[in-house]
Amino acid sequence: MHKLQWLVVLTTFISKVSSFGVTSTHDGDMGFIGYGIKLYEPGCAWPCLFIISSPLNCTDEDLANTAWEKRWEQSSSEEALYKREEAGADAPVYPSGDGWKVTAEATRQCQSRNEYFMKTVAYCLKTRCTGLSRPELETFYLNQFPGTNKSALAPEYQSYSTLIASITVAPTEDLNATKILNYTANIPDDLYIPLYSTMQKYAKTERRHSFYAMVVFVSGAIIPIGMSLLRFLPWPQAWRTKFNAFIIDPPLFGQKHDTAIWGLGCVPTRGQGIFLAYLWAINLASTVQGIDYEYPSPWYTQPSEAIKTYMANRAGVMSCALLPLVMLYAGRNNLLLWLTNWSHSTFLLLHRWTAVLCMLHAVVHSILYLEIALSAPGWDYAEQLAELYWQMGIAATMAMVVLCIASIQLIRRKAYEIFLVLHILLAVLALGGTFYHINLKYTSDYGYENWLIMSLAVWVFDRAIRLARSFRHGVKRAYLTPVDEEYYRLDIPNLSASGHVYLHFPTVSLWRIWENHPFSVASVTYRKSNLHSMVQVQNTKELSNKEIDVINVSASSASVTSASEQSQTEQPGTSGVVVFVRKHAGMTGLLAKRKVQEKGIPVLVEGSYDIGSTFLQDQHPAPTHDYPNLLCIAGGVGITGVLPALDHFKNTARPCGSQKLYWGVRTMPLVHAVESMLGYDCGHGSERKWGDLDVSLSIGQRFNLRDILERELRSQQGGTTVVVCGPTGMADDVRYIVSALARHSSENGPILVKLAIESFTW
Ligand SMILES: *[C@@H]1O[C@H](CO)[C@@H](O)[C@H](O)[C@H]1NC(C)=O
Ligand SMILES: *[C@@H]1O[C@H](CO)[C@@H](O)[C@H](O)[C@H]1NC(C)=O
Ligand SMILES: *[C@@H]1O[C@H](CO)[C@@H](O)[C@H](O)[C@H]1NC(C)=O
Repeated sequence: MHKLQWLVVLTTFISKVSSFGVTSTHDGDMGFIGYGIKLYEPGCAWPCLFIISSPLNCTDEDLANTAWEKRWEQSSSEEALYKREEAGADAPVYPSGDGWKVTAEATRQCQSRNEYFMKTVAYCLKTRCTGLSRPELETFYLNQFPGTNKSALAPEYQSYSTLIASITVAPTEDLNATKILNYTANIPDDLYIPLYSTMQKYAKTERRHSFYAMVVFVSGAIIPIGMSLLRFLPWPQAWRTKFNAFIIDPPLFGQKHDTAIWGLGCVPTRGQGIFLAYLWAINLASTVQGIDYEYPSPWYTQPSEAIKTYMANRAGVMSCALLPLVMLYAGRNNLLLWLTNWSHSTFLLLHRWTAVLCMLHAVVHSILYLEIALSAPGWDYAEQLAELYWQMGIAATMAMVVLCIASIQLIRRKAYEIFLVLHILLAVLALGGTFYHINLKYTSDYGYENWLIMSLAVWVFDRAIRLARSFRHGVKRAYLTPVDEEYYRLDIPNLSASGHVYLHFPTVSLWRIWENHPFSVASVTYRKSNLHSMVQVQNTKELSNKEIDVINVSASSASVTSASEQSQTEQPGTSGVVVFVRKHAGMTGLLAKRKVQEKGIPVLVEGSYDIGSTFLQDQHPAPTHDYPNLLCIAGGVGITGVLPALDHFKNTARPCGSQKLYWGVRTMPLVHAVESMLGYDCGHGSERKWGDLDVSLSIGQRFNLRDILERELRSQQGGTTVVVCGPTGMADDVRYIVSALARHSSENGPILVKLAIESFTW
């Protein structure tokens, strides 16, 4: 339901975006400046329009019509130039009368009806654009003065050719910016050339903005794909292990990756760190590269003003260009997830870091312009502040800053519900604010809004697929059974899914209708007929005070295991999904209060999200000749994340490797629940056999992971796949220890190890 609402909001936004585009696109050009959109081309012609700032005699009617103003939107600096002259020490007072007024701020309509203005422009075009043919100049002229009420114009103003024909004597008087333009002026070189060079450099810098923005965007998307493809090259196994152990797997510093540092966020792995370093470097370089300005220039009083303006513009464009990347990295359904072997949690980490970069660009853009508005001559801060585009810019920047601060892990985890709502609202505010900021300033002439349209498209795509995935299965019913003090088992009959799924419980709470939480699918199994009796055995009082939240999710594929023979005979044909859920604060408390175990509760299942859905994936740990051994380490309900790996090693004709599972759990009932789901009954010992698999349990205490890993990895023949799923601390320890071991060799030669950490940090 909530998703439909979002769709409505988003489509309204899109239609806004496109309608803006249609009404005001500059000559119908599309794309970015330098790539589809031409800025100030032909270069010789534009200064002729912009150079004339002499006062004109305008009628009130012409002054009232500002419809054209946007078409000639000039850089802020140039606007400031006019103000600067006007605000000079002794601002001249020009004559005015009934229905007319002489003013230095003539509108386009006034200019187009002014004989001397039009003749001056025409003469300037003729003398300065000798390289252009007459039809080209004619076109330029028509494009710049298209929609005038032609009948109101004298016939000779209606085309470039007629204007030129009407200039019989070459003008001799030079343009004088303070004198009423009641003569056809000659534009002298010392006025024309600085403006020409300034505009050329400005346009060149704008083209570079587009170029660097595209470099950042494209490389941000291409590099992950390229890196993922590298692994298909025939690297020697030992190199691969060493490369991963030195360069990819370990945390950048310290011993922790999944565990947050000071509640702020997690330390990237070295592999992630390398890509992040690239992103920072390319962003820094792109912000300062190729800023080229002209000085002396009529647009700036100091070189620093030009540099600040261009840097601010660059930062603004970069911020926009990062938005689609931010959206792309965030999606549950995105092309990069499908085209790479990078995990969703890696992309979420990139999402956060690019979002920070995007925010920093926006902040730099805002601070520089604030600085300019406050200090540059000719700028009036109060006047800028009154402008809607300026306010929109402030709103968007603020939204981005709050968005980033509200997303630090501490807040994200502590107040997930608020975080979620705020995150989406602020994202809409940031996108919308940026859009209006650009649109009010440039309409769609500069093409900046294309970045926003791209981000929106990525977002809408993800949301649309999520919607489709949610409704594909229809509404199911979920049955909740307590396993022990800590876990529930959730059965959703008549459903097939693998990997992990996001569950929505639309009827549980009106205020949390949009909430959905990821769960890893433990098994697709036959629903147990003794479900109800199990429930009655359990004491229901423990349900009420504890609640669950998002559990530690694994991005693993399903283990399609057949259930116990008993249930197969009792309820043939009703397959369903089993999920284990940990009690936490949040949604499940509400579930428990609703006596879900008896009647079931409606649930929408969004899924399956399976790493098998990537085109290039190789993350399903499966036995190979080089890696015959499997070592699984699971903590608590993390067992569900390693089951798929066990399953793969079970189904394939396996080489002579060993298979071991170390499973740390707090209490025994979870073990029994999982075993009964898998169809084993192994009594109470801590050493067990599940088929060919050796299972070591540790009830209520931690394994000594270093001892286990050292013993297992050092003694094994051939390579070992280590699969981990469990609490973040455990995953971090295994990551650290395995990487450290893999960097050294044992007596049996180099240790060959592949590490698969089925964790989902967010
Ligand atoms: C400006 O134009 C009006 C006619 O529109 C004319 O009456 C007036 O004298 C002109 N003023 C000057 C200073 O030329
Ligand atoms: C421009 O015109 C003003 C009178 O309006 C005059 O004082 C000034 O000298 C002129 N400037 C030039 C460069 O001719
Ligand atoms: C142009 O305006 C000036 C006043 O700025 C005036 O002295 C001059 O006579 C006018 N010239 C013409 C041709 O109207």
